[in-house]
Amino acid sequence: MIRDVLHLKAPGNWLNDPNGFIYYKGKYHVFFQQFPYAPVWGTMHWGHAVSEDLIHWEHRKTAVFPTKDYDRDGVFSGSGIEKDGKLYLYYSAVRYEAEEEENIHLAKDGRFVTSQAMLISDDGEQFDNFAGKKQIIPVSRDSRTADARNTRDPKVWRGKEQFYMILGSTLNDRTGRVLFYKSKDAQKWEYAGQYQNDAYGTVIECPDLFETGGAWVFAGCPMGIMNDGLAYTDQAVCALADFREEDCRLKLPETYQFIDYGLDLYAPQTNVDAEGRRVMIAWMRMPEPVVSGEDERGEWIGMMCLPRVVEVSDGHIYFRVHPQVKQHFTSVVSPGDEADFKEPFYVRAVLEEGRGLDIGGYRIWAEDGCIRTDRSRVFRGLEGYRTTCCTPPLKGGCKLDVFVEPNLIEVFVNDGEYVISNIVYGLDGTMIKEM
Ligand code: FRU
Repeated sequence: MIRDVLHLKAPGNWLNDPNGFIYYKGKYHVFFQQFPYAPVWGTMHWGHAVSEDLIHWEHRKTAVFPTKDYDRDGVFSGSGIEKDGKLYLYYSAVRYEAEEEENIHLAKDGRFVTSQAMLISDDGEQFDNFAGKKQIIPVSRDSRTADARNTRDPKVWRGKEQFYMILGSTLNDRTGRVLFYKSKDAQKWEYAGQYQNDAYGTVIECPDLFETGGAWVFAGCPMGIMNDGLAYTDQAVCALADFREEDCRLKLPETYQFIDYGLDLYAPQTNVDAEGRRVMIAWMRMPEPVVSGEDERGEWIGMMCLPRVVEVSDGHIYFRVHPQVKQHFTSVVSPGDEADFKEPFYVRAVLEEGRGLDIGGYRIWAEDGCIRTDRSRVFRGLEGYRTTCCTPPLKGGCKLDVFVEPNLIEVFVNDGEYVISNIVYGLDGTMIKEM
């Protein structure tokens, strides 16, 4: 059995978005977009991992995979809820109009249609891909309601009166929009409205909408918003939402925060933990695979960030490392100390303007009231990717909590005011140096 500690990683080959993240019957379940056959994106399945503490993860066998005509080309992203003791999983079902001749895992000329489907599992361990699935929202025939191709990633929640679903979509591949559906039994769904906004990219992927501390927060992934010529034009953002659940009336501001200013993070998903905190996990996009030396997973690409608690204070959305995860690090490393770069470790520091840290070649410093990072020395010289990052101006002070593991550095600034997380390769050193 493949196990992970702290960061959930591809159990071999390819992983992208977290799906169906839920605390169910005393365990955390994370499903994820998986291509089990090669370290590349292809016909999507749902991988599955389970944890009792959000720290120790056990990979299980692939939970959801294509079996139906409507999902033959991919079980795309979605979410999960508990109802009557059962686990209800919702996903987008993809069917290509034709396959590419030389790679049947891709749609020829990008032509495909998407419907929404669900799978009910009695216990979160068995998933009947043959008898347990059902299509719940057909492919749209009216582009005013929904796009037949780019409508996906159902996020379902139990509301005050009924169940609700938010779906990512587009208007004519030009304007990001989201759709709402509602249901009394979580199985028969009825259209309940939509919202579009030109500031939210051409398509919105992986939308999420939740209440925390009395405020509604929207999180989602507008496509095509970073046009600086580098990879990852699609980015995960969040904003305080004006939302009325009864009639699904949504309004979003024209400006938003990035969920993570490292801009590698994508497809976040939230749910509540055992104590009722709102917790987020997300996919860390990796440009190249890693070859595992420790277990049987072989080549793997794609991992999750550390679980983060989402909190709203003074109109700002904070992402703080989950307290249980923080407690797992029994020792804290300070600037000037030695560290074992082969294992995860936690560095705490306060930076003054102009000062910085060098962690195995990854550099973090305070400049003009912001935090900046540079991974160019620990990124295999890869071109076309962002190597330097910056937070917006900080409200004041500069306290850092940095979580380091061989392929990922997560820099939490001022208790989650901003976060910069970056994929790295080949950290090298024994000491946390001051600069
Ligand atoms: C986001 C995404 C989703 C889709 C899935 C396919 O990364 O494109 O919109 O459901 O990945 O793997």
